[in-house]
Amino acid sequence: MDLKKSHIEFVLNHKKRAVDIPSQASALFVIREILGLTGTKEGCGVGECGACTIVVDGEAVNACLMFAAQLDGCEVLTVEGLGKDGTLNRLQNTFLDNHAVQCGFCTPGILMSTHALLEKNACPDDDEIVKALSGNICRCTGYQQIFSSVKEACSNGQEAFDD
Ligand code: FES
Ligand code: FES
Repeated sequence: MDLKKSHIEFVLNHKKRAVDIPSQASALFVIREILGLTGTKEGCGVGECGACTIVVDGEAVNACLMFAAQLDGCEVLTVEGLGKDGTLNRLQNTFLDNHAVQCGFCTPGILMSTHALLEKNACPDDDEIVKALSGNICRCTGYQQIFSSVKEACSNGQEAFDD
């Protein structure tokens, strides 16, 4: 068993964090089990489902495949960082309005992949949306409501994602 610890400092959901971690721990483990942010889900644990998607320095990544040590010095966003003061942001509300959430297990990861896409490209075309969400598996919705939500968020303009 590896008992070595590492110390990392990074910005998580707009706040500076410093934490000692087991040196071989995944980003997912540290976010959920050490920092207590359980919005990020563990599905497959091997990079196949996208339930663990977080945004690191603007890129959507699978937290289950990333060492937590790699977060050092990074800007990290999880689903808890999308809204403010306990309220949902407009992108999240668009998912609700379009019934894009059923069991909800995939939803945090899909929101984070969508957020990363829209931060780079406020008006993605259909192919770009499909490609951005291709790593996120949903077993409930059939994807159409999710796709409709992203399209509606796009039609609302960039301000839809900023709060
Ligand atoms: S839990 Fe990370 S991709 Fe499935
Ligand atoms: S809403 Fe259940 S897996 Fe997507």
